[in-house]
Formats: sequence, structure tokens, C-alpha cells
Amino acid sequence: MELTFTKCSLKDAEQLRLISEQTFVNAFEKDNDPADFKDYIEKAFALNKIKSELLNANSEFYFVFRNDILVGYFKLNVLFAQSDVKRDDSIELERIYVLKEYQNLGLGKQFLHHIKNIALVKNKKMLWLGVWEENVRAIKFYKRHGFIKFDTHPYFIGSDEQTDWLMQFDLSTL
Ligand SMILES: CC(C)(COP(=O)(O)OP(=O)(O)OC[C@H]1O[C@@H](n2cnc3c(N)ncnc32)[C@H](O)[C@@H]1OP(=O)(O)O)[C@@H](O)C(=O)NCCC(=O)NCCS
Repeated sequence: MELTFTKCSLKDAEQLRLISEQTFVNAFEKDNDPADFKDYIEKAFALNKIKSELLNANSEFYFVFRNDILVGYFKLNVLFAQSDVKRDDSIELERIYVLKEYQNLGLGKQFLHHIKNIALVKNKKMLWLGVWEENVRAIKFYKRHGFIKFDTHPYFIGSDEQTDWLMQFDLSTL
């Protein structure tokens, strides 16, 4: 299955807002308090917030297409756009989402392969991410692809304080 990775620009803001909200709701709505969840998505996926993230020179969003159909997206941060580790030689995978109907087909594996290559091209040594400790499926997926837990951090969905595992992949092993 051949995938096409396209870096997003400002013109993609509305489509990016839509897929970001849709995939987040599908993945996490059922496990969260409705009021906290609503509060979170209204802020996180506001069009102006997405636009400012697109304009950040240290962040990149990519759409992923299979046969011209949008199947997912991911977001990478470097330097001061990173949320925890802020090393010059690290890169954060802040978001990775495969649309529900395309999950478990091996696409996420291909996303990660491409992401690791982008990180290498940028001369990064460490690829890292935060994942909700209750997102067992994603944690298993990351472990399968060589990520190891190195810390935790708090993450707020509305007023609900949750714990994210911080996981890293050593790019020098490639
Ligand atoms: C986590 C996520 C990005 C993984 O993407 P994916 O496309 O489902 O991942 P893959 O298909 O490559 O691998 C998932 C599983 O499918 C299995 N699989 C891979 N290729 C397969 C195939 N051809 N047929 C059937 N199963 C397959 C793998 O064994 C893997 O199993 P594992 O969970 O035991 O590791 C995706 O499920 C997702 O978007 N989830 C919701 C949002 C989310 O949690 N994002 C991460 C936030 S930190």
C-alpha cells in the first residue's frame, strides 16, 4: 500500500482542523468526562489555534494519503516548539492519527517509518512523544516500534489531570 506524505500549509487549516478533531473525538471521547472533553476540544481544535500552529516555523503537520484518500496525519515539533524535552537534537512526535476505518492495516507502521526518516534528515538523535498511560493500544504500538518509556508528565483534558508516558526512540539505532 503506497502512501503519500504531504506537508501542510496555511491553506490546509480547515481540513486539518476537521481531521484533528474527528480523530481525537473517535479515539478519546468515550473515556473522558463530557464537560472536560468539550472544553478541551473547543480550545485545542479552534481554527485560529490550528492556524498559529501551522505558522510556527518549528512545527510541521503532514497529511497522509492512500490512493488520494486522506487516511491520517501527524505533527512534529523541533527546538522550542517541543513541549518537554527541548534538546537541539531531539524531535517530538506530538500527534499521530490514523482514521478509524484505516487502523490495524499496517499504516501506522508506515507513518512511523517515514517519521523516523524525516527525523534523520533533520539530523536528530532522539524521537520522543507523550502518550496517555491508559492508551494501551498506542503504547503497545510504540513499544513494538522500539520506543521506551523515560518519564511521565501531567496532561489536562479540561480540569481532568491525566498522566502521559514520555517515550523515546534512539535514532542512532537506525
Ligand atoms: C496508534 C495508531 C497511530 C497506530 O496506527 P495503526 O495504523 O492502527 O497501526 P498498525 O496497523 O501499523 O499497527 C497496529 C496493529 O495492527 C497490526 N497490524 C499491522 N499490520 C496489519 C495488517 N496488515 N493486518 C492486520 N493487522 C495488522 C499490528 O500487529 C499492530 O498490532 P499491535 O497493536 O499489537 O502492535 C492508530 O491506531 C491510531 O490512530 N489510534 C488512535 C489515536 C491514537 O491513539 N494516537 C496516538 C496518540 S499518542
